[in-house]
Amino acid sequence: MRLVPWQPDDMLRRLDDVVSVYGEAMGYRAELLATRRGYIGAHVRRAGFRAVATLTTEGQLAGFGYGYASGAGQWWHDQVRSALPDTDRQRWLGDCFEVVELHVRPTAQGHGIGARQLRALLSMADGATVLLSTPEADEQKSRAWRLYRRFGFEDVLRNFYFPGDERAFAILGRDLPLTERARAEGAPGIVGI
Ligand SMILES: CC(C)(COP(=O)(O)OP(=O)(O)OC[C@H]1O[C@@H](n2cnc3c(N)ncnc32)[C@H](O)[C@@H]1OP(=O)(O)O)[C@@H](O)C(=O)NCCC(=O)NCCS
Repeated sequence: MRLVPWQPDDMLRRLDDVVSVYGEAMGYRAELLATRRGYIGAHVRRAGFRAVATLTTEGQLAGFGYGYASGAGQWWHDQVRSALPDTDRQRWLGDCFEVVELHVRPTAQGHGIGARQLRALLSMADGATVLLSTPEADEQKSRAWRLYRRFGFEDVLRNFYFPGDERAFAILGRDLPLTERARAEGAPGIVGI
């Protein structure tokens, strides 16, 4: 397995694979994936875009993650902003990198790939804070939750509902840059990118 930084065009070239990993990891239906494909294609042009991918020795996509500078006028940013109390808006959204997607193909999960991707992505990100949203779940049982907690993500909003989605989400955040401790605890035993 090889972890590589991706430029926007790398992501666009592998968009079919990206959507396939995303669909498998999240268990989403084909109709939803078509819409998501369009969004991802547009996201690569956003300011501060950063992406990483994990490739097998045969070049197959095992996982990916990406994010960008969170800004006013973006749907996710505006939803989160309107739900935050005034005092938290500047603290969390003033200079924020949003982790938009982070996924590993189910057959490749559980081997530290997600942690390695997250660590690399946050190391490349600009911003004073990082935010992400993840479905509410049992923190002990969910691999995503365990991963984010290991990296020191704290609760920013809990049981938040985005318009048009019946699932409850948590918005989690932490300061950037990653401390050495968070880097080590998030991805133990892995050296370098
Ligand atoms: C969440 C997700 C990205 C995590 O990626 P992953 O590669 O499966 O997870 P990790 O990197 O944490 O690895 C899992 C386990 O391997 C362990 N691990 C860490 N480094 C390791 C290494 N070098 N070798 C082996 N195992 C290692 C971790 O301790 C972790 O243990 P835990 O899950 O019991 O806490 C992935 O599971 C996924 O795509 N899930 C479905 C989609 C999803 O929920 N995405 C996030 C939505 S916001």
